[in-house]
Amino acid sequence: MDSLSRREMFDFHGISMIHYFTDNWENIQNFQARPDDILIATYPKAGTTWVSYILDLLHFGQTSPERQTSIPIYQRVPFLELTIPFLDSGGQTLHIGVDLANNLPTSPRLIKTHYPVQFVPKSFWEQNCRIVYVARNAKDNVVSYFHFDHMNMLEPDPGDWSSYLHRFKEGKMVFGPWYDHVNGWWKKKQTHSNLHYMFYEDMVEDTGREIDKLCRFLGLSPSAEEKKQIIGGVQFDNMRKNDMVNHSTAPVMDLKICPFLRKGKVGDWKNHFTVAQSEEFDEDYKKKMKDPTLQFRTEI
Ligand code: A3P
Repeated sequence: MDSLSRREMFDFHGISMIHYFTDNWENIQNFQARPDDILIATYPKAGTTWVSYILDLLHFGQTSPERQTSIPIYQRVPFLELTIPFLDSGGQTLHIGVDLANNLPTSPRLIKTHYPVQFVPKSFWEQNCRIVYVARNAKDNVVSYFHFDHMNMLEPDPGDWSSYLHRFKEGKMVFGPWYDHVNGWWKKKQTHSNLHYMFYEDMVEDTGREIDKLCRFLGLSPSAEEKKQIIGGVQFDNMRKNDMVNHSTAPVMDLKICPFLRKGKVGDWKNHFTVAQSEEFDEDYKKKMKDPTLQFRTEI
């Protein structure tokens, strides 16, 4: 078993990947989803943890409160395609997303993926599982990914901002091009009615409203009190202080370099893009994002 370290990307069925997300490919593809499984799908840094935490609280916040103080979110909501060795009290073991998912004691099982839509194991479609997809505007998404790649010791070295931005536009990112990811999942919504497509910007604008929409999709009706508690618990500042969701226990992240919950804002891209970079980005964006029905907000 090799040790954890930054890895080079390689082409995997047309998508740039690192081996931590492809090593277990056969088992991932053969994963047996159950009809009540809920898949949380996102491009990295779109608000996965936020929505995972909301779904976990909605489903299990009342029935098993001890879960909230003892199990980190990345174990409650396993990352399906992740296969990494890590050190724990028992020595070096493998963290295998598929196994974690298979061993989840909860029902429904909440499972996370960053795969582009064409990589998702077919049983999720066959079982007509509920899927929550979260998308975030490209400019804030790339900024968040840049900082994340500095602090996450599995990711390829991000290099400087300008070359990173170039690489993002080229789609040479782990999990492939943002453009194809958000579009691919958007199109899937037309044929898979059990897909709730939501936007990070809407969540920042009005978390309560977006939780209401999620509840309608999931067939849940929390009490007003419960909803109030959830809205409070999932606020950025509260999540940042919460060791079970802020990734302070994650073995591969160096929070001294950058906190996992970094800024939590819409429009932080303005602190990173130069005017020229923004103009070039917008030009390129127009060429790639042709579907008028899929619109993002870069400010609210
Ligand atoms: P920033 O780096 O812009 O701060 P993911 O969970 O998909 O990796 O996404 C992480 C991003 O979501 C980070 O963005 C993080 O701060 C943001 N985020 C997580 N919880 C949030 C919350 N409660 N409110 C706003 N943003 C949140």
